Amino acid sequence: MKRLTVPAVRARKGGEPLVMLTAYTVRMAQLLDPHCDILLVGDSLGQVIYGLPSTLPVTLDMMCAHGAAVVRGSYHALVIVDMPFGSYEASPDQAFASAARILAETGAAGVKLEGGETMAPTIAFLTARGVPVMAHVGLTPQSVNALGGYGARGRTNEEHSRIVADARAVAEAGAFSVVAEGVIEPLARTIAAEVACPVIGIGASAACDGQVLVAEDMLGLFERTPRFVKRYADMAGMIGDAAAAYAAEVRARTFPGPDQVYAPK
Ligand code: KIV
Ligand code: NA
Repeated sequence: MKRLTVPAVRARKGGEPLVMLTAYTVRMAQLLDPHCDILLVGDSLGQVIYGLPSTLPVTLDMMCAHGAAVVRGSYHALVIVDMPFGSYEASPDQAFASAARILAETGAAGVKLEGGETMAPTIAFLTARGVPVMAHVGLTPQSVNALGGYGARGRTNEEHSRIVADARAVAEAGAFSVVAEGVIEPLARTIAAEVACPVIGIGASAACDGQVLVAEDMLGLFERTPRFVKRYADMAGMIGDAAAAYAAEVRARTFPGPDQVYAPK
């Protein structure tokens, strides 16, 4: 099957909703790929895979290693890799060097970066040089220190207007899609209506052009799940039950059984 392309994703504005999930590893990519339009190698892997306190310590090396694994495990979905904190904010040149490394080392089709009007010149710079950019506005976790937490955005008129302006600016700069995270529902609705490229929501609105969740959250694999996550499975429970059954059988010497041991020739 041919992989979905960036222009094909862009063309889905206002059409069939885009299905996006995060993936960090090859097996998860293989399992999610048939069901998704886009696989995001999110810097949320900092917390989810590495137990870090935020996404801030995530490195380009980590994103490249996991990005390559997800590309190897997928055939159908467009793969997008997050630019980690500190790898793109200083200048368009810095962003291009980081993005070029990500695309070259992983085989992903594009990158995602956080920020609105401030990042618009960088998005235009990358886009003009062959790097498709997915933007990310609203609650931008790499700015947790400036924002003071992970609460929903857009509750004041000033913040509401700023986020609409951010979404417009990144789309006009050439972003092929925009993630709108943790914004109040009417704001997400406004962004989806006013921005020309697909808006992909997380903690946003069903009116968006698509949805994204962290796979581990919706699978019930991560300890803390925010309000906007719906749990579609309880994999933590399944893993706990399996480990408990294994432990009991090892202790009772009933594992390995006859089927799991090698007979002499
Ligand atoms: O890092 C991530 O997983 C993300 C999504 C939640 C949009 O940026
Ligand atoms: Na991210």
